[in-house]
Amino acid sequence: MPQPPMSEVTKSRIREELLKGLSHEQIARKLKVSTGSVAKVKQAILPDLAAKKAVSADDVKRLLRKGPLGASEIAGALGCTEKAVRSLVSGMRKTGAFVMETIDGRYDLTSSDNLETRVHEIKGHRGDWTHHFGFVTDNHLCNKHSRLDVLRAAYEHFAEVGIKTVFNAGNWIDGEARFNKSELVTAPGMDKQLDYMIDNYPVRPGITTHYIAGDDHEGWYQQREGIEVGHYLQMRAEEQGRKDLRYLGYAEADIRLRFGTGEAVMRLVHPGGGSAYAISYTDQKRAESYQGGEKPHIELVGHYHKFNHGYPREIHTLQGGCTCDQTMFMRKKRLQAHVGFSTVKIKQDINGAVERFVVEWFPHFDRGYYEKRF
Ligand SMILES: [Fe+2]
Repeated sequence: MPQPPMSEVTKSRIREELLKGLSHEQIARKLKVSTGSVAKVKQAILPDLAAKKAVSADDVKRLLRKGPLGASEIAGALGCTEKAVRSLVSGMRKTGAFVMETIDGRYDLTSSDNLETRVHEIKGHRGDWTHHFGFVTDNHLCNKHSRLDVLRAAYEHFAEVGIKTVFNAGNWIDGEARFNKSELVTAPGMDKQLDYMIDNYPVRPGITTHYIAGDDHEGWYQQREGIEVGHYLQMRAEEQGRKDLRYLGYAEADIRLRFGTGEAVMRLVHPGGGSAYAISYTDQKRAESYQGGEKPHIELVGHYHKFNHGYPREIHTLQGGCTCDQTMFMRKKRLQAHVGFSTVKIKQDINGAVERFVVEWFPHFDRGYYEKRF
């Protein structure tokens, strides 16, 4: 069937996105047009694109890999203006690239190690519970063992009980490493995994998911590509019309739960290291390691794929299990997966102190259990 001709408005929007540097696939998804239409418009503006390509963010990155440089030095090396360099660096930062300014005003590439713990704030409500939220973690999307059915069931339940806020403690995608390649359901590349997440991670009206990035799995991309992957995911999701994914920080973030005259600090954390013999041990050791004044009141913990509620040093530590069956990596290391999700209700007193803390855990079993049920 012959296709109707493309409108001038669509052509001009495609042109704009091409000049911004978006890929064919990204533009097709964003504007809901075919990749063929994007290719047609691209043919017409090839000279413009060639002119724009003259200096790119990759050129700046390539130079900075050798060491810190001032804007004038970069401009000199690339044959462009200092203004163009500053604008490229600002664009790189917006997409989460690690470019810092040294004390003498030069640009330098930095790494995740220089990211500070970010602090956010949520106001509590009057009534029976000051806070009521959902908690999911370690989804490992893009791995064939990921349990999207469980993740969907979680958001279904959150919507049913009126939860508006969900926390995710990292490992939302599986990332790429030598040992997980045969288990991936997406083609190689960070953008492929992030787009899979944007397409498949549950979205429910009124629910916002606040997430941190783990320093493994999605974090492998961060370490390899030199960009802040959690920030980049939010930006990419927003470009594609998803406004419900909010990035809180890398590896950990603090959320001040404000109520009355005070607050309780809740830390969302994706620690490192392997599982211990006893599930609670890692939480106990982390609680012990905090210096005076650094201790939060609540911790939502990812990484271990276990469910556990502990109270070491008067910190409510909640490990959130996972929504992924045992992977080959875990089987080799003899690690069990606690598949499921949780909801949490908190009651704070007038000074913000946590006087009641209720966790509900929703366990799920392996796929076979559900397949036999029907
Ligand atoms: Fe994980």
